[in-house]
Amino acid sequence: MKRLLTLSILGAFVLPAAVAAPDGAALYTQLSRQAAVAASDGAALYAEKTCIACHGPKGNKPLLPSYPRIAGQNAAYAEQQMKDIKSGARANGQAAAMAGIMHLVNDEEIKALAIWLETLK
Ligand code: HEC
Repeated sequence: MKRLLTLSILGAFVLPAAVAAPDGAALYTQLSRQAAVAASDGAALYAEKTCIACHGPKGNKPLLPSYPRIAGQNAAYAEQQMKDIKSGARANGQAAAMAGIMHLVNDEEIKALAIWLETLK
């Protein structure tokens, strides 16, 4: 009985610590990723994540006439559209073209892209 008690006390303290450790590591990774994204340029992401191929170097010369011009678009709107295309909430015929690459960008990168796109003319 005493041993069982010791075990459960151990379990109560050791287990949460073991769970907390990976959480801390994940949080650290997330925070350093955010810092990296904040420091990085939306322009660099735009080229690196292939956006440039379909929307043109400055977001105003789409690959196909039916693709949208995104230069100067409102950042909050653009951010939400990108998230919706990624999640599938926005899934009309043309969104499928872009959805395939959205795994390349996380939420922080989407935000950085949206903020940069808004600055374009
Ligand atoms: C393979 C082609 C393709 C790629 C690559 C692509 N897009 Fe798109 N994008 C589209 C198409 C097509 C639409 C229009 C979707 C629709 O009709 O619903 C769109 C829509 C958008 C919209 C919403 C425009 C609006 O007015 O609602 C934004 C913002 C956007 N793209 C930004 C990006 C960014 C940033 C990237 C890079 C991470 C990217 N796109 C990569 C084809 C692409």
